[in-house]
Amino acid sequence: MIRTEGLTKVYESKSGRQEALQDVSIHVDKGDIFGIIGMSGAGKSTLLRLIGMLEQPTSGKVWIQGQDVSMLTQGQQKEQRKKLGIVFQGYNLLMQKTVRENVEFPLRLSKTPRTQRRERAQELLKVVGLGDREGAYPAQLSGGQKQRVAIARALAPNPELLLLDEPTSALDSFTTASILELLQDLNKRMGITIVIITHEIGVVERVCNKTAVLDLSRVAEQGYTSEVMANPRAEATRRLLGLGGGFHG
Ligand SMILES: Nc1ncnc2c1ncn2[C@@H]1O[C@H](COP(=O)(O)OP(=O)(O)O)[C@@H](O)[C@H]1O
Ligand SMILES: [Mg+2]
Repeated sequence: MIRTEGLTKVYESKSGRQEALQDVSIHVDKGDIFGIIGMSGAGKSTLLRLIGMLEQPTSGKVWIQGQDVSMLTQGQQKEQRKKLGIVFQGYNLLMQKTVRENVEFPLRLSKTPRTQRRERAQELLKVVGLGDREGAYPAQLSGGQKQRVAIARALAPNPELLLLDEPTSALDSFTTASILELLQDLNKRMGITIVIITHEIGVVERVCNKTAVLDLSRVAEQGYTSEVMANPRAEATRRLLGLGGGFHG
C-alpha cells in the first residue's frame, strides 16, 4: 500500500541545514492501522507530507499502491493525492462554513454535482456520528466533534488511505478513545488503510497493528505493535514506554 525507501529530507535555510528525515524505510500493508510514533521534532509530520506528496524528498522514494510517485508529473501527483485522505494537525476547518459545507468542500473542488455532494456529506456525517449537526458552525463544536468533521471531510473523495497527523493530541482521554474507536470502525467496516502519527504511546497500543518508532529523524525500530511493545529494542521505544534508558543489551 505504502512503501518508502531511504527517504531523506533536508531543509536548508539561513540558520543552517536541518535533516528532518534520514534514510526512512517503512512498509504499510493494505488494511493496516499503522502508527508512526516519536517525540516532538522526530520528523513525523515531514514523513506524512512526503507520503502525501505535499513535498518532494531530498532523496529516497515513496511508492503508493505500487506506484513510484517520483515518476509522476505534478498534475498526476495531484490526481493521486485525491486518493489520499489527509487530516492535518489542528483540524483546519473553514470557520465561516457549516459542518456540511466543510465536508462538501473537497467535492466542490472536484466539481461533484450539488445534490450528490450534499448527500455524500450527510452520509459521512452520519458515519462519524454527527448526523444531527450538519448546520452547525465549527465554533459551536467540541474538539472531538471538530476532529470528526475533519475526518468526514478527508473521507469525502472516498480514499483508500487515510493519513492523520496527531489526531488526538488536543483531546482528553475520553474523547481520544471515541475518536480511536471511530478510526477502528472505518478500518474494519470500510477497509480503509490508516496511518496515524502520534507522540502518545497509548494511541498505538490501542489501535495500531504495526508501529514505526521515529527518533532523531530515523526509524529506531518497526514491526507489529504487540512485538515492539513487548520487547522494545530501541532506547527511544523504552523512553516512550516510560521504561527509562540505560539498557543496551
Ligand atoms: N519547512 C521546514 N523548514 C525547516 N525545518 C523544518 C521544516 N519542517 C520541519 N523542519 C524541522 O525538521 C524537524 C522535524 O520536524 P517535524 O517533521 O515537524 O517533526 P514532528 O512532526 O515529529 O514534531 C524539526 O527539527 C523541524 O524543526
Ligand atoms: Mg508534527
